[in-house]
Amino acid sequence: METNSTYNYTVIRQFSIMTVVWGIVGMLVGVIIAAQLVWPSLTFDISFLHFGRLRPLHTNAVIFAFGGSALFATSYFVVQRTCQARLFGGPLVAFTFWGWQLVILLAAITLPLGITSGKEYAELEWPIDLLITVVWVSYAIVFFGTILKRKTPHIYVANWFFGAMILTIAVLHLVNSAAMPVTLTKSYSAYAGAADAMIQWWYGHNAVGFFLTAGFLGIMYYFVPKTAGRPVYSYRLSVVHFWALVSTYIWAGPHHLLYTSLPDWTQSLGMVFSLILLAPSWGGMINGIMTLSGAWHKLRTDPILRFLIVSLSFYGMSTFEGPMMAIKTVNALSHYTDWTVGHVHSGALGWVAMVTFGAIYYMLPRLYGKTEMHSAKLMELHFWTATIGIVLYITSMWIAGVMQGLMWRAVNADGTLTYSFVESLERMYPYYTIRWLGGVLFLIGMLIMALNVWKTVSNGKPTVAAIPQTA
Ligand code: HEM
Ligand code: HEM
Repeated sequence: METNSTYNYTVIRQFSIMTVVWGIVGMLVGVIIAAQLVWPSLTFDISFLHFGRLRPLHTNAVIFAFGGSALFATSYFVVQRTCQARLFGGPLVAFTFWGWQLVILLAAITLPLGITSGKEYAELEWPIDLLITVVWVSYAIVFFGTILKRKTPHIYVANWFFGAMILTIAVLHLVNSAAMPVTLTKSYSAYAGAADAMIQWWYGHNAVGFFLTAGFLGIMYYFVPKTAGRPVYSYRLSVVHFWALVSTYIWAGPHHLLYTSLPDWTQSLGMVFSLILLAPSWGGMINGIMTLSGAWHKLRTDPILRFLIVSLSFYGMSTFEGPMMAIKTVNALSHYTDWTVGHVHSGALGWVAMVTFGAIYYMLPRLYGKTEMHSAKLMELHFWTATIGIVLYITSMWIAGVMQGLMWRAVNADGTLTYSFVESLERMYPYYTIRWLGGVLFLIGMLIMALNVWKTVSNGKPTVAAIPQTA
């Protein structure tokens, strides 16, 4: 039985299992919409299975249900272990789990029905937004309350990243979701025109920067040193790149709105801050990879470490690609094309999903009275199907994207367009098929993970871990 002198592992078990469940659901929807782009009449024109309805369902499911559950699970694990304190907040802790699941359920019902605010990554209507606010504030109370009651003198660096994520997401959500309700299912944004667009992409970009980056760097800073069995390479670097990252990200949003009616100086500002962002991003990547120096041999035998190192490599790649795409002349080619979709998934599959898999594989046996996952072979199989899946996904999108961009801008000597839009679409078939195949492989990897998780959980029993009393 868990008591006040044990860690709260129950909530971590719940969030960890739901990470796998929502991963399968969200990626299945991803595979379906990828298939719709190859076979457009796949879902027989049924309105709630239409691409336009399923796409936001996919993004919400993978980012907030899969990614969100992973962030809750890992941050609760890390903050307790590094503070040597049980989670603060009593019943609030369980509320964060059930409240977050309710948000996801409501999203899964309303988005296919076409109930949406129309803001990308903030599609949910105002009653759900209010629920998100209550759950998120509870999360903040639990997390920072635990930090306050810590028994250790320092606040470990992973908690800095989780804390920045929690605070910034709260501000972004509150500001961007401000709206005037008309009915229970319809509201209008509090902002209008270019200001609305700018606030939306200040939100959108920092959802990437804080939800999909800072939070997952928190995961990286705990699980890479733990798995490698070595301390973080440089604490100084971690502090410097933390402050540089959080203060730079917040200005880069306008790179989503280049060549729009946004004031030109804001576009240039967004571009310059995006270029600067390369440095703090690579600071984190280098710190992670250097933590492994001296432990490289473990890569041969430890599948968890492989997930982590591949995720760091993709983090490095996508944060090199992003600043390049933020250069106005490059963006003139890449914007509106599948290059962006390739970039997104090199970050989302390569970085976010792979670091999550590594962390879940590390935590799960420890939460169920075991030292290892049921099968190392299955982990290995998952690693290879996922890695091959990512490579197929992003290389096909890079080729497709650059081809689209070049075809759209090609002009004849007399100034007319060389290609019609439909011609460029026709050329996409092979690449959309390869992307779909990559997605299928990635999803198969998730199913292999689910089997391994199932076996580990059913052969184990919930761990009750006492908090050390010495510190
Ligand atoms: C230094 C870091 C990064 C920079 C400067 C950057 C920059 C960019 C740029 C310029 C675009 C294209 C905007 C457009 O033409 O519409 C973009 C799109 C996007 N990036 Fe990044 N990126 C970075 C890292 C990442 C990472 C690590 C992820 C994922 C984990 C990510 C996720 C996204 C998403 C989701 C979009 C698409 C947004 C949309 O249009 O819906 N980015 N990024
Ligand atoms: C099996 C795995 C996956 C498949 C097959 C898949 C497929 C897709 C497809 C087909 C789209 C629509 C692209 C378009 O509109 O042309 C998309 C968009 C998107 N997906 Fe995925 N996806 C997968 C996993 C993920 C994961 C794990 C994440 C995040 C953690 C993610 C985040 C996104 C985002 C942010 C977008 C919007 C991109 C944009 O607006 O530019 N996806 N995905």
